[in-house]
Amino acid sequence: MIDQSAVKTAETIFTEGHTAYSFTAEPVPDEQLARVYELAKFTPTALNSQPLRITFVRTEAAKARLLPLLSEMNRAKSASAPVVAILAADTDFHEQLPVVSPQSIGAKERFAANESGRSVMARNNAWLQAGGFILAVRAVGLDAGPMGGINAAGIDEEFFPGTALRTIMVVNIGHVADDGAFPRSPRLGFDQAVTLA
Ligand SMILES: Cc1cc2nc3c(=O)[nH]c(=O)nc-3n(C[C@H](O)[C@H](O)[C@H](O)COP(=O)(O)O)c2cc1C
Repeated sequence: MIDQSAVKTAETIFTEGHTAYSFTAEPVPDEQLARVYELAKFTPTALNSQPLRITFVRTEAAKARLLPLLSEMNRAKSASAPVVAILAADTDFHEQLPVVSPQSIGAKERFAANESGRSVMARNNAWLQAGGFILAVRAVGLDAGPMGGINAAGIDEEFFPGTALRTIMVVNIGHVADDGAFPRSPRLGFDQAVTLA
């Protein structure tokens, strides 16, 4: 028996919800941002490593620091969003492993000695969490506009100097404007993308 409320949730998140490019002025309270994180944090990661770090930029002063670090074609999109999330990979995620992955004996020390492997692990799993984050934004009734057209190194310098955080993308968040989304882009069909072996 299919749970109808679950079906509706899946539609909101996957089929009805899609990428937003401009937003209404309706504010997004910090409590709603907390709800986004409380869902997004359950995205599975290797070793439960959870390398994603999120900075919610939602004051005019903070947005003024961020906008010049977006590609020119993306600035107006973020300017219209009440919140822009900077998603970054913490390449020092291994420090948390004894807490989040206590069964992984020696993992912290192994990653401490392997800087390049640590960076790959941080980025791969932060990207995985980024997918969960976008869906979590939709799950709480907001719209999301993910963007990779950014000066990631510039954002690191401006927002995370002297830290192990490495920006991977930004996500515009708010309520989509009436003309704020393009028609849904085509998706590959089951037969094109799936093999049953
Ligand atoms: C990792 C990533 C990077 C993206 N970068 C940009 C970007 O720089 N600028 C932009 O306008 N859209 C960007 N997009 C939006 C995608 O083009 C959009 O999500 C995709 O075409 C699906 O659209 P739909 O949700 O409307 O079907 C990005 C999306 C993702 C997930």
